[in-house]
This record gives sequence, structure tokens and C-alpha cells, in this order.
Amino acid sequence: MSQALQGIRILDMTHVQAGPTCSQLLAWMGADVIKFEPPQGDATRGQLRDVPGADSLYFTMLNCNKRSITVNMKPAEGKLIFVDLLKVCDIVMENFGPGVLDRLGFTWEKIHQINPRIVMGSIKGFGSSGPYAEFKAYENVAQAMGGAMSTTGVPDGPPFVTGAQIGDSGTGLHLAIGLLGALQQRHRTGLGQYVEVAMMDSVMNLCRVKFRDHQRLSRGPLPEYSVPTEGLSETPRAGNDSGGGQLGNAIQCKPGGPNDFIYVVVQEAVWDALAKRIGPSLGRPDLATEAKFATIAERRKHQNEMWSLITQFASSYTKREFMAILNELDVPCGPIMSTADLADDEHVRGRDMYVELDHPQRGSWYNVGMPIKLSDSPAIISRSPTLGEHNDEVLAQVLGYDASTIDSLRAAGAMSAPAKKA
Ligand SMILES: CC(C)(COP(=O)(O)OP(=O)(O)OC[C@H]1O[C@@H](n2cnc3c(N)ncnc32)[C@H](O)[C@@H]1OP(=O)(O)O)[C@@H](O)C(=O)NCCC(=O)NCCS
Repeated sequence: MSQALQGIRILDMTHVQAGPTCSQLLAWMGADVIKFEPPQGDATRGQLRDVPGADSLYFTMLNCNKRSITVNMKPAEGKLIFVDLLKVCDIVMENFGPGVLDRLGFTWEKIHQINPRIVMGSIKGFGSSGPYAEFKAYENVAQAMGGAMSTTGVPDGPPFVTGAQIGDSGTGLHLAIGLLGALQQRHRTGLGQYVEVAMMDSVMNLCRVKFRDHQRLSRGPLPEYSVPTEGLSETPRAGNDSGGGQLGNAIQCKPGGPNDFIYVVVQEAVWDALAKRIGPSLGRPDLATEAKFATIAERRKHQNEMWSLITQFASSYTKREFMAILNELDVPCGPIMSTADLADDEHVRGRDMYVELDHPQRGSWYNVGMPIKLSDSPAIISRSPTLGEHNDEVLAQVLGYDASTIDSLRAAGAMSAPAKKA
């Protein structure tokens, strides 16, 4: 079966999470991704190791369906391999610290000159311009600086990071969109272009609605917030508020464990049915018509009381039981799913969103599957490569080097780390 990106070859110099998450998605859409690593490999191969001597899950979960080639870019022989690969690839991508590729002698201008058709993708913490351009960044630095942390948590507590890796994986998604857009433009122009995505910008993009509220504050308090907003000039942390036009909150259920919660959206259309269902057992048979809850404007004003009534009702049920009750009423809701819940979930397994893979160093392991489902080219997920697994294959098949050229490049140290001085 053909795949969406079949025929697209990617020279993937990315490391850690932000870049590899992008190239993995492109590989799952059929691109031939050549992971171009320094001789010691992507640092994540050895980070947070759970099996001695094996590539870590941090690495394996972000580098599936790629080929690995190790090239030392410092000597001329390594640079030669890089240049030859540039000539036969459609995309080159990197997420090094500021200026790293320039210092290696490869500015975008130089790369464009070597192969005018190649699209170049770069992830930086803060982009290549502006006062922050020289700074390195990791996930939570981007969350801190892009508006996520200041708006996550509760007003009288510290700012929190989110579990979802919006700074790294979120940026990788943005880059994937940019690269595909640039490939599309190349169909018309025949030319590649430089695609830059800053982690801070990506987080800001994902925090867009927080800037909606930031501007609304200048006209007065925000009625849908469950926390006070009178007189504020910046969007506050608002716990588990829905963040949208409908009211929502996380409701505790039986037996009261850390994940025994269900997120409930009291959509305008469902209040009547919900109030009729929960009211009688709370001793409030007329809850649906009580003036303080009769309209969405009133429910906004009295939402904390509404949440405690729903919590009182929910205390007799587990999150799954309460979900069943709410589903019957067409109330949008979702139990808080732990990683254990998800790993065992029938829906998740049925959609290939938690897939079992094998690996020569670690045996069986699981990866989160491909979230983008293409009807004509479903992803076929295969394991991540071991370090340098495809050195000879790529040099011979992709670059057409013969065995003696490969041997002499290897002897010159193009694929290995410089020998340590005694
Ligand atoms: C993630 C980050 C903080 C890591 O910093 P770091 O470990 O110091 O790594 P850098 O990317 O700055 O540098 C990589 C080094 O490896 C070298 N290197 C990389 N590939 C090489 C190769 N194939 N051969 C030889 N050297 C290589 C580079 O030359 C550079 O060395 P230098 O410092 O002498 O110039 C940094 O890469 C960064 O800010 N990236 C952009 C933002 C980002 O993507 N962050 C999220 C990561 S999930």
C-alpha cells in the first residue's frame, strides 16, 4: 500500500523530543527519515534508562520508523557525507541550540545553495530574532514563557506545567505543518524554503484563548470564570474551569482516589435534563427551574454552588458509573484517565493508540500510536533504530558509495567519535 509521504526523504538531525516527535509523525506518513546522529547518538538514547544497555523508552518512543546513521560532522569527511545527503533529501530538519549548525559551517543560505529544492525545518526555543534568540530551551521553559504556566493551576497556588508536552511535542506538530506547507509550495516554485518554529511561539498559539480572556478583562470581569476576575489585568489561573463558553469542571467521584474524577461540561442544552436527574436525590426536585440556575448567566454566577451539588450527587458513584448516567442524558463528560486506565482501555487499543513493538535490546515495549488516521495510508509502526544501524545501508543505497569508499570514510573517523587522548 502506498503512503502519503512515500518518496519524501528526510535528513533528520533533530534530537531530544521537539524535533523527533515531528519526524516520527512524518515517518508514520511514509517519509524515509534518516536520523543523522553524532557518533555518541541522540542524548536521549541513554536518558532515563530502564533496561541496562538498551536504548531508553525516551528514545524508542520518539524515533520509530527511522533509519539511524552516525556521522561526525567535525572532520571534513563527515561534512562530505552531510553535503551528499543534503543533495538527495527533500527536507533537512534540526533543533540544535542557537547557532550550532552555522558554527558547523552550514547556514540556511549555504544549504539552499547546495540543494535549492530542499526544505529546511528548524526548531529553536525562541526563534532566530529578538532578545531571547540566543537562549536554549526545554519543554517547561517554553511552557513558562509561552503563557501556559501562568494560566495553569489555581490562583493562590504556584503556576503549574501541564502533563501534555505542549512545548516539545506541540512544537513538533507545528513544524510538521510548516514542512508540509513548504513542500506544497515547492510543487509550484521548485524551490525549498526555511521553516522556523519557536517553542515559545507554539505554546502561545496553544494558549490563544487565554489571550482572548486577557483582552476581555479590559472590559470587565469574566463571568464564566469560577475564580474572581474583577479588576484583573492578566488572565488568571482558574483551576479546572472549562475555558470556553460552556461551564465545566472536574467532579470528584467514589471512592475518592487521586484519579476518581470526571470532567463534566454543563452545556446549556443539557442543564434541564441534568437538573431533573440529580435534583430529586439531592432533595431539590425543582432544581431545573430554580431561579439561580435557570439561565446560563445565572449558572455562571452560582457555578460553585452548582459544582458542589453535582459533586454531592457524584459521591455515590464511581467515575464510570457517573459517566453512564451522564451519557444517557447526552452530557459531555470524560472520566479522568490515568496512564494505567489508558494502557488497558478497549477504545485506545481498538484505535491502535497503544501499540506493542519489539526491540533487539529491550524486547517487548509499547508506544503511543499514530493519532492522524489517513484512510488510504494507515501508519505501520516499526521499532526505532539502534545507533548507526543503517550506516552502511544509507551510504550504499542512498548515496551510492561503494564498499572501499565507505571503508575509507570510516577509517578517517567520519562515522565515529574522535579517539580519546590517553
Ligand atoms: C535542547 C538543547 C537545550 C540541548 O542543548 P545541548 O545539549 O547543549 O546541544 P546543542 O544543540 O546546543 O549542541 C549540540 C552540539 O553537538 C554537536 N553536534 C551535533 N550533531 C553533531 C554531529 N553529527 N557531529 C558532530 N557534532 C555534532 C554540535 O556541533 C553542538 O556542539 P557545539 O556546542 O560545539 O556547537 C538545545 O539543542 C536547544 O536549545 N535546542 C533548541 C530548542 C529545542 O529543541 N529544545 C527542546 C528539546 S526537546
